[in-house]
Amino acid sequence: MLVARIVSSVLALAAAGLSATYAADISGTWVAKTENSMMGEVEYVYELKVDASGKITGSQRLPFGDSPILDGKINGNEFELTVQQEFFGNLSNVTVKGTIEGETLKITPPGPGGGGPGRGRGNGPGAGPGFPPDGPPPGGAGAPGPPPVGPGGRGRGGFASGPLTFRRGTPTPSYRGPSVDYAALPKVELPLRRTVSSNGLAKTPPMGWNSWNRFRTQISDKTVREIADAMVSSGMKAAGYEYINIDDGWQWKRDGEGNIVPNPNFPDMKALAYYVHSKGLKLGIYSSPGPRTCGGYEGSYGHDEQDAKTYAQWGIDYLKYDWCSASRIWKDEDMPAAYQKMGEAIRAAGRPIVYSLCQYGRFKVQEWGPIVSGNLWRTTGDIRDAWESMANIGFSQSDLSASASPGHWNDPDMLEIGNGRMSATEYSTHFSLWAMLSAPLIAGNDIRSMTPEIRDILMNREVIAIDQDKLGKAARRVSKDGDTEIWVRPLSGDAYAVGLFNRGTADAHIAVKWDALEIPGNPRVRDLWSHKDLGRKPYGFDAAVAPHGVVLIRVSN
Ligand code: GLA
Repeated sequence: MLVARIVSSVLALAAAGLSATYAADISGTWVAKTENSMMGEVEYVYELKVDASGKITGSQRLPFGDSPILDGKINGNEFELTVQQEFFGNLSNVTVKGTIEGETLKITPPGPGGGGPGRGRGNGPGAGPGFPPDGPPPGGAGAPGPPPVGPGGRGRGGFASGPLTFRRGTPTPSYRGPSVDYAALPKVELPLRRTVSSNGLAKTPPMGWNSWNRFRTQISDKTVREIADAMVSSGMKAAGYEYINIDDGWQWKRDGEGNIVPNPNFPDMKALAYYVHSKGLKLGIYSSPGPRTCGGYEGSYGHDEQDAKTYAQWGIDYLKYDWCSASRIWKDEDMPAAYQKMGEAIRAAGRPIVYSLCQYGRFKVQEWGPIVSGNLWRTTGDIRDAWESMANIGFSQSDLSASASPGHWNDPDMLEIGNGRMSATEYSTHFSLWAMLSAPLIAGNDIRSMTPEIRDILMNREVIAIDQDKLGKAARRVSKDGDTEIWVRPLSGDAYAVGLFNRGTADAHIAVKWDALEIPGNPRVRDLWSHKDLGRKPYGFDAAVAPHGVVLIRVSN
């Protein structure tokens, strides 16, 4: 047995030595597929070019984005690639190692953050969304099964964690754009900084739905119409939800005149907008200031004005503009001018379009977002449907409270309520916290098939009224004691919303004195989840709060 092993090792060594003398040509397109419980079949592609000196360049095309291969070399049957990855605005050079094994390549693709699989980095104030290994929903509230997400997502786990076997082949056709040669891109001049006139929209935080959290890039005209129908039939429209926002994955290519062409899943955007408008709702769309979106689709680089006109012509009412590949072209300090460019283009196009900035809270966006006519700006990396992700983001927003005002909102990302990986208690906390923060309430679940429990959370009108309060002041944390936190938000009419949050895993009793919140008098208290008036409370209020739960009250005179 031992002898056999030694013999085979010697043979292997000899084989390795032999191949070292002939530099293999691994130029070409290499494809690997793997099954993933959350994303279904996912495809990994390496497009490699080996030049006469043996240097490897090309591109890496993973489910969460395309990355140029800046350098690489072959040594015997081993090779190494330097891949420039982007992750929520951070660029990093990652070394990817592989081996040549017969007609195949064995490569371990890197995780989205450039680290190993499952070790993503967060952005923004204290938010660390991360990329944990995937798994089935732990019996959370409201979703019948795992979301039918497809490739193109970088906001979830679910990528290879070991070496994959790549074969020469043709990637599955998709509507994503071809890989970009960033060095050869024509330069786009950014405008001189100036204040873009306000569009006067979003006097209260936008409310609506977005396709990304649940559907990733698996979206179509049909789904969007059905969601619009459900928005009306479920009562969500009557509760205040208005925007139906198409996220990444609607794009295809540019025509001869450079106009953006939607992919065949969206045969007629104008007709879709007409349909959505006929329901009394509004339609939103998504693009990037860079040449590619985060999912690898055609972005608006060099086409801002043209795309803004197209959106206006289609009847689009909301644009989410996502930085992603722009970080391969510009620096963070160029962000204000890059977002101003589209802000001006939208204003010039003449249609009222809510402008949603998505650059993960980088470069103090809350300071210049309003100046570029932004109505809302993301403050963190992507949310996931998990308590830790939601809580890390939501409870880290206190310092930003002064930046919210009518027309200008901090956006801690879209709601995960009803996607199945949190409990109803946790989703109620999610909703309460977002309402306290005066955050946009953009549902991210399949509202065509909601359980009554999820419906009751998303349509709690008393909590929605807090979010939509016309004073437009966001909550701040007034105290933190171990796992419990008390937040207060001033409301119009000399009222206040007070949230008693329990972030821990054991029951908690939380008490608050009006003095500490600077709330005067002997106010009346109403519980916004039990929908009960609790009478006047002279000095303060206290309540038992469930693990991961909240007691949300309205305090008024
Ligand atoms: C980024 C954004 C997400 C989503 C995806 C689409 O990750 O932060 O909200 O729009 O891109 O690819």
